[in-house]
Parts: sequence; C-alpha cells; structure tokens
Amino acid sequence: MTGGASGIGFALSKALVEAGMKVVLADIETHALDFAVKALRELGGVVQGVSCDVADADSVVRASETAFEAFGHVHMICNNAGVGDGGGIDNIFLDSWRWVIDVNLMGVLHGIRAFLPHIRAHGEGGHIVNTASMAGMNSGLGFSAYSASKFAVVNMSEGLAAELKSLGIGVTVICPGFVRTRIMESGRNRPDRYGSARTPDPNSPDGKLLAHLIELNQAGIDPADVAAQTLKAIRENRLYVFTHPGGEWRTEVEERFTAILAAMDKAARRST
Ligand code: NAI
Repeated sequence: MTGGASGIGFALSKALVEAGMKVVLADIETHALDFAVKALRELGGVVQGVSCDVADADSVVRASETAFEAFGHVHMICNNAGVGDGGGIDNIFLDSWRWVIDVNLMGVLHGIRAFLPHIRAHGEGGHIVNTASMAGMNSGLGFSAYSASKFAVVNMSEGLAAELKSLGIGVTVICPGFVRTRIMESGRNRPDRYGSARTPDPNSPDGKLLAHLIELNQAGIDPADVAAQTLKAIRENRLYVFTHPGGEWRTEVEERFTAILAAMDKAARRST
C-alpha cells in the first residue's frame, strides 16, 4: 500500500488488516508511517512499514523487495500515494507539474512495474488497486496537473484490466470525490528537488479556489467509507469505484461523452 500512512491509504490498509491480510505500508512520511504501522499492529495486524518515494523507481523496487522478503508471494498492490498542487494550466509552476505527475502517474507505473512480473510469475492471481479521482473523469476544478495525472491513471487501469483478465489478475480504480484527509497539505511531502511548495495569494483566483477546495475537502466523506466500498469492489472484481453519488460530476461526465460521441458521429457521416 503506497501512501499507507494517512487518509485513504491508511483506512484501506486497516480494512485489509481486518479482512485478515498481511499488509506492507510504503510511505515517504516516515514518522506518520511509524505511527500507522504501530496503530495497525495494535489491532492485531501483521504489518510491515517501508520508507518509499513512489516518484523514484528504485525506491519502489526496494519496497517491493521488502514485501517479498517479509511475506513471500504478494497478491495485491495498492498504488494509492498521491499529491495535489493547484493553479490553472498556465499558472502552475513546471516543477509542480513534474512533482504531481511523478507521484500520481509515474508512482502508479513504478508500482505496477515492480510487482506485476512477480504476480504474473507466481500464477496465483491477484488484484491491482489504483487510486485515481473524480478529477480523472472531468475537467477537474482547475487542478490541471492533478486532473491530467488522474485521467492517465484511469486510462492505465482500464488498459490493465483488459490485459490481465485472462491471468486472473483483477484491477480496480478508485475515483472518489472529496474525502476528509490531509491531501490539501500535500506540500508537507514535497521533496526539495521539485522546489519549495508555494501558497497562492489568498486574494488571487488560485488562492480563492484553494480556500474553497479546503472547505470541500473538510466536508468530504470519511476515508473509512472509501475503504469499505473499495474492499467490496475488490471482492466483486469491479473495475470502477465511485464513492460519491455523482451530482454535477455525473452531468459533466455525461456532457463530455455526449460531445465525444457527437463528434464521432460527425466523422462517421463524413466518411459515408
Ligand atoms: P493524504 O495526504 O492523507 O495521504 C496521502 C499519502 O501519500 C500520505 O501518507 C503521504 O505521505 C503519501 N505520499 C505522498 N507523496 C508520496 C511519495 N512520493 N511516495 C510515497 N508516499 C507519498 O491524502 P489522501 O486523500 O489519503 O490521498 C490518497 C489518494 O487519494 C491520492 O492518490 C489522492 O490523489 C486520492 N484522492 C483523494 C481525494 C480526497 O478528497 N482526499 C479525492 C480523490 C482522490
């Protein structure tokens, strides 16, 4: 479980422990990681913690070796670590783009590359869980890098699901709306190589958007709800998990697909 020290990753790890699974928590925030491992062990969980930066492929490979050494065959991987950084497409700093893409997209890819050959080789089947977002379904509230990364994770999950079905390896992609976690404090885990975290002027459009998003995040659902819905989806081998009823997000998805289908119909008419 990447990003297992906080929020959705911690709640999902707890649910997996309660379901009797052995879990490795991999996280960049080591003191939170130690705390999370201790909390799950106190519940009787067989849990191992490993410090890991998912943006670094070698670090994820080292985490996978820890998992193989600790527990032997691994059957489930949860590529959940994620960060957000705001700003419209031409405001967001390039190093912020790189950070968000490296963690949210490359981090998922690194997890798949480190574990999938092992799951394929043991041949006992398994499940890959990727945490995307409702921002991977619509234009994403101005969080351009975040939306781009999450669109890619949805796409990668869809492709993997088709490719791995015949091997008995399931894929689930989680697309939550707002969940009460520390995602709006993502800057706490921003490595120096991406430059410092910057807080927008509170009176600027980006600053106002950020304040609004913090409010929505704090009014979001409990991560334990996301965990319970995800566990059910894994058991039922479902690809998509939408944790929120949809509302205006559903309308945006409908509008997007209606426009895409209309454009395809137009192309079909042109070719006849
Ligand atoms: P969180 O901030 O509470 O937890 C994220 C975890 O990822 C933290 O433990 C953090 O230390 C870890 N992390 C950050 N960078 C890392 C790195 N480079 N390597 C390893 N670990 C790293 O936030 P939350 O909300 O629990 O985030 C989990 C996932 O859920 C993310 O992928 C996020 O994008 C996604 N999500 C969150 C939503 C929300 O409203 N909270 C909504 C939709 C998706």
